[in-house]
Amino acid sequence: MGKTANKKMDTVVALCKRRGFIFQSSEIYGGLNGFWDYGPMGVELKRNVREAWWRDMITNNDNTIVPEGAQRTFSMVGLETSIIMHPQIWKVCGHYDLFHDMMIDCRECKARFRSDQIATSECPLKPSKHPGENEKCQLTEPREFNLMFKTIVGALSGEEGTVFLRPETAQGMFVNFKNVLDTSRLKIPFGIAQIGKSFRNEITPRNFTFRSREFEQMEMEFFCHPNESQQWYQYWRDRRYQWYVNLGITSDNLQLRDHDPGELSHYSLGTADVEYAFPFLESGGYGELEGIAHRGDFDLRSHIEGKLVCEDDNLVVQRDVDGNPEFRGSGKDLTYFDDQTRERFVPHVIEPAAGADRATLAFLCEAYDEDEQPDEKGVMKKRIVMRFHPKLAPIKAAVFPLIKKEGMPEQALKIYRELKAADVNCVYDQQGAIGRRYRRQDEIGTPYCITVDGDTANDNCVTFRDRDTLAQDRIPANNVVDEVLRRIRQ
Ligand code: GAP
Repeated sequence: MGKTANKKMDTVVALCKRRGFIFQSSEIYGGLNGFWDYGPMGVELKRNVREAWWRDMITNNDNTIVPEGAQRTFSMVGLETSIIMHPQIWKVCGHYDLFHDMMIDCRECKARFRSDQIATSECPLKPSKHPGENEKCQLTEPREFNLMFKTIVGALSGEEGTVFLRPETAQGMFVNFKNVLDTSRLKIPFGIAQIGKSFRNEITPRNFTFRSREFEQMEMEFFCHPNESQQWYQYWRDRRYQWYVNLGITSDNLQLRDHDPGELSHYSLGTADVEYAFPFLESGGYGELEGIAHRGDFDLRSHIEGKLVCEDDNLVVQRDVDGNPEFRGSGKDLTYFDDQTRERFVPHVIEPAAGADRATLAFLCEAYDEDEQPDEKGVMKKRIVMRFHPKLAPIKAAVFPLIKKEGMPEQALKIYRELKAADVNCVYDQQGAIGRRYRRQDEIGTPYCITVDGDTANDNCVTFRDRDTLAQDRIPANNVVDEVLRRIRQ
């Protein structure tokens, strides 16, 4: 990692701690690698990220607007499935025997590395970690390491009670495909979306929250007719990229990269990643925020027939030496019947799979900015400002009385309560010089500050300050709520 890149990342990490966005999990006990806690600001930011996604996918999705060439309108519904599911699910979809990284252990210091991240034949850790006689450290040969966390259900021990924490939310949608279809009036094409925790026992969690062992996914499975699947793939690929742009990530730092044929999973008919130029990467480097995959009929067919493998370009059930399926499917009918065309088929699936924590981290990195502003005495001072999109900002508005007397606190509190009643997450602050109060809000990315001053009692107006333009407009106190709501919705 370059020095400048390192420095910017360190600055963002330090701000996250200082202003209550993200803390190391279990910090007072020395922390637990790969796990993170969201503080009072972080929890609001991440909630806003999730809500922006959910609104875009479900509540605000206007299904009367269809992409060019699509035959029908499409519907979107939500789902929440359990974290622990029947272990057969993970056997059938391939996570049980294929979801692993190759790892290498240092025999002396017991450190563990991903084999693709270790370039030398010696342990990369400091010599002080190797106090033994061996000057040359002994690394093991690469071995498979399954990334699923195991636990035990009920009182059974051993294999019988062994279950897994889900490594993705996607399987919850596939195994409920028939339930959703049978209990709603949905017609293909439609999507099922879910937000929830996933767990992967990453060998080397790193880069702050980017690669964690517990993280949150925002995934959607879009079921469509095979003949229309390429067109829906293009639609979701472009729409998902635009979502990040609309929430303030400049296209300079964002790219949509199509996978080369060699990178595709055996069943995928196309995959593109939305990638962000995270500051912890070398200049010109991008890290994945989201993958949009055309998964064909792989998932539903697997849950019908059993684990599939590719043979001579065809997906066939994997069989053991006796010819029986290696991992049996449910045997249930997960096909779709189109009552207009009288056609029965296994739908194709387009899957935009995003990470809520990675998106939150990208919004944090993108928002971080420094400029210079004059203080009360006119001296230029460095200002740290988080330029979050107003929809994502943890706190939308701050209300201040200029001073703590002459009725100003009462007037400011009235505005504060009106904002709260309108569901605007706002704060009231009367401590310290006004410039310092503005800077406190800039540092957590509050887009609007409202100040009641000595003139308010006469003209019933307040100062409305914009974090980014620094414009200070005088507006009627009665208009504050409408003005804040109007600007947040823009
Ligand atoms: N169902 C497909 C699937 O899970 P994935 O690319 O493995 O695809 C989707 O995961 C997204 O989940 C990633 O693009 C990333 O944003 C997030 N994600 C995956 N592993 C992660 C980890 N260890 N830490 C944080 N986020 C992760």
